[in-house]
Amino acid sequence: MARAELTVNDLRNLESRIRDKSADIGVVGLGYVGLPLALAFAEAGFNVTGVDADKGRVNKITRGTSYLLDIESARLKKAVTKGRLKATTSQSALRRVDTIIICVPTPLTKTKEPDLTYIVAASNDIARFLRLGHLVILESTTYPGTTREIVLPILESTGLKVGVDYFLTFSPERIDPGSRKFTIKNTPKIVGGMEPTSTKLAALLYRHVSDRVLEVSTPEVAEMDKVFENVFRSVNIALVNELAKLCEKMNINVWEVIRSASTKPFGYMPFYPGPGVGGHCIPLDPYYLASKAREYFFHTRFIELAAEINETMPEYIVEQTVAALNTRSRSLKGSKILILGVAYKKDIEDVRESPALRVIELLIEKKAMVHYHDPYIPDFREGNHRLRSIKLTKKVFSNYDCVVIVTDHSCYDLKSIAKEAKLIFDTRGCTVGINASNIIRLGE
Ligand SMILES: NC(=O)c1ccc[n+]([C@@H]2O[C@H](COP(=O)([O-])OP(=O)(O)OC[C@H]3O[C@@H](n4cnc5c(N)ncnc54)[C@H](O)[C@@H]3O)[C@@H](O)[C@H]2O)c1
Repeated sequence: MARAELTVNDLRNLESRIRDKSADIGVVGLGYVGLPLALAFAEAGFNVTGVDADKGRVNKITRGTSYLLDIESARLKKAVTKGRLKATTSQSALRRVDTIIICVPTPLTKTKEPDLTYIVAASNDIARFLRLGHLVILESTTYPGTTREIVLPILESTGLKVGVDYFLTFSPERIDPGSRKFTIKNTPKIVGGMEPTSTKLAALLYRHVSDRVLEVSTPEVAEMDKVFENVFRSVNIALVNELAKLCEKMNINVWEVIRSASTKPFGYMPFYPGPGVGGHCIPLDPYYLASKAREYFFHTRFIELAAEINETMPEYIVEQTVAALNTRSRSLKGSKILILGVAYKKDIEDVRESPALRVIELLIEKKAMVHYHDPYIPDFREGNHRLRSIKLTKKVFSNYDCVVIVTDHSCYDLKSIAKEAKLIFDTRGCTVGINASNIIRLGE
């Protein structure tokens, strides 16, 4: 019997269905990346089915209840009520959609090697339902070569051929969680397909939700672009963290240095020192590239060095807290410390890889009595301890020997905190401009 093939007409039909939004979209993985993307396509007028392994998340979406700060429940509810967005734990829903976007996690193993088990599992699920005319897009951040070396062979094991029977593209997610300024719409989308039709179809799709789509020649270019963007951040954050340590020794104010350097209209962009890096991207993605580079007998020294500097920042913060307490003739052991903010950056609810966790762990190890407050993180586990966010009152600050600002959420009334607290160690420079003798800042 002749093998079924995708005809020119089938391809035209797929293109026109993407153009007129009658193509159905499946999104695998409904986290920080997948849910906003699924909602963006639903709001653009597509029928979207999100598949997630987490039943709790699926139930919440079905009820129109958001679990992400960036997504208001009202928006979600509207898309669900209109029937534009559905969520399910059943992978078989992928059979019915025309395009499948993979947004699953890409963590590291304990030894900081890429852990592609989620991408492999999602690809295997897709392979079970792959059919003629499917467009598959990988959005998870990963090392260059993943689409071709990992996803492609799994999909081709079905006997279908890319560019002939189905299409495969890498398109990195570049969202900035918590940002109101940069959204899916105004952040250019990069697409690199396994062959020209894969690139063209993915570009056609993303133009419905993004103002600018840039087509690149291969998935590897798109994959490298994404990790390079994150390595760039990691290296520059490490550089300014190192500068902050030097400034502290030289008694130069690093915040003033950054402010004056920022007046240069070319060749400079500001990065800010802090307690380290967190989230699912900056602490992890550089290792994806470093690991892949070793296959080529190549050592990415900048990446390793930047990671080393950024990863030691929590220890430095604890050392500086000890030094701050010493100015009040207090030792860390037995001191009451209040950590303000444990999310990895301001105004978000994500605590993954947050440097605050390491700071708290080290403080507890050194026998400090640690409490924390974070409006977005009601509780979390640190070793054997379950910590709960304390209730903030105006008077509470004076109960602590030192208030350490680790994450400068916008809700903190810093002037009032400065009035009440005995001592503040500010790791973010958020109190610059408040002149008070009880404030000690990183890098001053
Ligand atoms: N969080 C960010 O700011 C950000 C930004 C850009 C890129 N990325 C990248 O995007 C990817 C996803 O990150 P995230 O932050 O959205 O992760 P996340 O953990 O918030 O969400 C991933 C979701 O995938 C689900 N999942 C895992 N395996 C599955 C499977 N086989 N089938 C169905 N669902 C599955 C999980 O239950 C979870 O809900 C990662 O590669 C990350 O590096 C993240």
